[in-house]
Amino acid sequence: MIEARDLRKEYSAPDGGSVTAMHVESLSVERGEQIAVVGPSGSGKTTLLSILGGVLASTSGDIRWDGEPWGKAAGRMPAKMRARRVGFVFQDLNLIPSLTLLENLAAAMCFLGLECDGEKCRLLLERVGLAGKEGHKPEALSRGERQRAAIARVALHAHPLVLADEPTASLDGESAAMAMDLLCGLARGNQSALVVATHDPLVMERLERRVELRPIGKAGPPRPAAEGGPTI
Ligand SMILES: Nc1ncnc2c1ncn2[C@@H]1O[C@H](COP(=O)(O)OP(=O)(O)O)[C@@H](O)[C@H]1O
Ligand SMILES: [Mg+2]
Repeated sequence: MIEARDLRKEYSAPDGGSVTAMHVESLSVERGEQIAVVGPSGSGKTTLLSILGGVLASTSGDIRWDGEPWGKAAGRMPAKMRARRVGFVFQDLNLIPSLTLLENLAAAMCFLGLECDGEKCRLLLERVGLAGKEGHKPEALSRGERQRAAIARVALHAHPLVLADEPTASLDGESAAMAMDLLCGLARGNQSALVVATHDPLVMERLERRVELRPIGKAGPPRPAAEGGPTI
């Protein structure tokens, strides 16, 4: 489904040079596959997920979705269309704090351009063990419960690709196992590709394949200082 070659993201450094935030030589993601993206903090896991999800463009390289250009093309695609292709479970979960759980799911349905269906939202919250908490705002829930609410939200639609960034970070063992059961079961049921960025060995064990990122941060050459400019 996704084929990427020599994908690189660079940011400008304060000295005028550039810093490589992420580099992947080759990556393919097929429908129904479950993949772990692993590597130490700062190795570019979040950056890679953002590029796969079409919310960040790479600096160079080629990325295709079913043979069609993806990446910059995804950036030009209406947000609703992109959101139907890719479901995110963000590291900070991105639940709207002023809305209840039920309202959070309903708002996501609107964003996806789906007909608002309160009963479906209620059922999904029940499926992730949050029955009776539909009227709670995110702040009234534990981290594990918020994580499950974010998973219920991604279950609103059968996205071909589901991306989860460190979905077990700051969860205890039991909540982490439950979050992974839900994510993997959801992806299997919908034949979605699941790509999970993680440090957690228990998560890696559960996924079929591993993509390892190495920390780089290699700086490109700094721009020469302008004549008469500061010398420090
Ligand atoms: N917007 C940005 N501007 C400059 N550097 C960034 C930006 N976003 C990420 N980086 C840098 O890119 C590298 C990879 O970041 P990230 O993808 O968040 O890694 P990981 O998720 O593996 O911890 C880090 O060194 C980070 O500081
Ligand atoms: Mg990260």
